Amino acid sequence: EKGGYPDFMLKEIHEQPRVIRDTLAGRLVGGALSIDELDLTVEELNLIDRVYVIACGTSYHAGLIAKNLIEGWARIPCEVEVASEFRYRNPIITPTTLVVAVSQSGETADTLAAIRDARVKGARVFGITNVLGSPVARESDGVIYTKANKEIAVASTKSFLGQVVSLTLLALLLAQVKGKLKTNQVRFLFRELADTAEQVERILSDTSAIKEAARACVDAKSALFVGRGMGSAIACEGALKLKEISYLHAEAYPAGEMKHGPIALIDEGFPVIAVATKSPVYDKVISNLQESRARGATVVAVATEGDEEIRKYADHVIYIPKVRDAFSAITASVPLQLFARAIAVERGCDVDQPRNLAKSVTVE
Ligand code: M6R
Repeated sequence: EKGGYPDFMLKEIHEQPRVIRDTLAGRLVGGALSIDELDLTVEELNLIDRVYVIACGTSYHAGLIAKNLIEGWARIPCEVEVASEFRYRNPIITPTTLVVAVSQSGETADTLAAIRDARVKGARVFGITNVLGSPVARESDGVIYTKANKEIAVASTKSFLGQVVSLTLLALLLAQVKGKLKTNQVRFLFRELADTAEQVERILSDTSAIKEAARACVDAKSALFVGRGMGSAIACEGALKLKEISYLHAEAYPAGEMKHGPIALIDEGFPVIAVATKSPVYDKVISNLQESRARGATVVAVATEGDEEIRKYADHVIYIPKVRDAFSAITASVPLQLFARAIAVERGCDVDQPRNLAKSVTVE
């Protein structure tokens, strides 16, 4: 059942290129992007003036990535909120508000309650889920399936990538409808997005640098994950994976916030894991790495292939193929999943069934 892998988590990590391909299959119809399941006319889509992405845990992190894309491409204000917060406050919702509920299981209690509340208040709700006919699918106005197939490991990996790809499609669609991106630009971006399947395959084909970095951090008590922009959202997911399966305390911070507090944690050998891929904020991340290094941190950097300079600022470099910043979550998340798993295995943890956690959280 594990297909020759020692655990489901590793098997599922290796399924990710397939998930990307399946999630994108059939989306480019006659040269234009289409998501028929959304069940909204172009006119209705065009009226959307506010987006909320509502989710929990890893699915919430997919939302953080989507915010960058929806605001960046479609220029629609987008907020990302943890479902258990959203449901107990009084968010501003009008008939032109789109609520996107993201849930692998499709049965998370808080996410479902948020969907119901949003619909009562008049929002249109799209569900993004991995489970056919799940409550999230049934109770939303439209649904996109992530095509990850059944995910068994408690820690989400392949469903996260499916969510990020689906949300990327949604952002492209909104940008297309709003006229912020031309059809040929959308087509071009779609093809680049499809190329990430092969890039993830390449990452999976040689994981030696990831294992080496993990060995250097295995005895740590705590770790800090940092990044800026997209990298900051990716760092959140990296930290969650590590704490879930290795029980090592991990926190994510936007790198620019380091000197406002977390830098006090750093002493000799403290692991700082940085998303330092080439992006408009690369130089800023580098200066944060210098500050960490100067205080004795062991720096692990996820960096872009060909970037030799990064070696001056990091003790361990994990290279990944070059992709545009908008797609960096798809590639950069994969080494962080493997990093967390490698540490958990070294520490003798059950990576598929971490203590205190359940695969779906159907109670509040
Ligand atoms: O099924 P959902 O996506 O609604 O679940 C949300 C979270 O419970 C889930 O992502 C959790 O954080 C995972 N264990 C992450 O690996």
